[in-house]
Amino acid sequence: MEIVTLVSLLSLYCDFTDAECLVISPARLVVKYGDPASSNCSSDTPVEMGWEAIQGGVGLTDKEVKILRWRVDSVTEWYSTPTCYTEGGQCQKQLDITVYKLPDSVSISYRKYPDPMVEGHQYLLQCLVQNIAPIGRLRVTFYKVSATGEQTELDTQQKSKDNIKTPENGTYTLDFTPGRDDDGAQLLCSAMLDLGPEGPQPPPVMVSNRLNTNVHYKPQITRSPGCFSMSITEGDTLSLACSANVDYLPIIAGLASVVILLAISCFIYSSYYKHRRISY
Ligand SMILES: *[C@@H]1O[C@H](CO)[C@@H](O)[C@H](O)[C@H]1NC(C)=O
Ligand SMILES: *[C@@H]1O[C@H](CO)[C@@H](O)[C@H](O)[C@H]1NC(C)=O
Repeated sequence: MEIVTLVSLLSLYCDFTDAECLVISPARLVVKYGDPASSNCSSDTPVEMGWEAIQGGVGLTDKEVKILRWRVDSVTEWYSTPTCYTEGGQCQKQLDITVYKLPDSVSISYRKYPDPMVEGHQYLLQCLVQNIAPIGRLRVTFYKVSATGEQTELDTQQKSKDNIKTPENGTYTLDFTPGRDDDGAQLLCSAMLDLGPEGPQPPPVMVSNRLNTNVHYKPQITRSPGCFSMSITEGDTLSLACSANVDYLPIIAGLASVVILLAISCFIYSSYYKHRRISY
């Protein structure tokens, strides 16, 4: 039993020493494009080592060393994979580096400008994020700010493009169906670059312009309380009022006829009572 434990412990130790032949510190870097970057490669025992890299590469050292630094004044390589190695490539360790660039602009617009925007119809919103890297780390959120200033999150999107490291233009779309309450609301999108704990904190966020919404909606007929039910005493004057609260009346012929019908019924109703009053 003890022997088994000892053997497994030994093998664990051996695996461990083999895996940790070289240690990179920091092992992960998040660098803004154009900024300096550096990381150290170290070994417990002195060895000849070098850094293989497109930028800041260091050839194999003549002497055995315990530490070797990789350093770049200005990172301008998107696909940088600095790798520390020992003689003959017996041991290799790659530095995990993410080069990022904040977007040049974030803007929101309609795919096709709605003229007019009608209640209940569907419109396509698009959020354009220009020149961003890496696009797979970008989270785009659409928001609606009501006329009273209340902000609602509509949707959050992220593209699964982890292999693309160079700057990209990202287009994010969302179907938007306005209701009458959305009249006077504003739409916007925000782009957040979440680069993890090694990245800038809090994650940088860029917010778009605001898009106004003017929703055309069907007229709402409001009846004055007396229009359809009213009790009057003899001799009182009877006044009837029907009003239509029409807010932007587009091409709604059907509703126009409803209004006309109401007006006619009010007229008939009132003349009937007038007639009765006169006939007394
Ligand atoms: C790398 O090692 C050098 C020398 O030990 C030290 O001065 C430097 O701060 C280290 N750099 C990093 C990034 O750890
Ligand atoms: C992004 O859009 C801009 C402006 O339209 C254009 O100049 C640029 O080439 C585009 N970039 C990519 C990677 O497509």
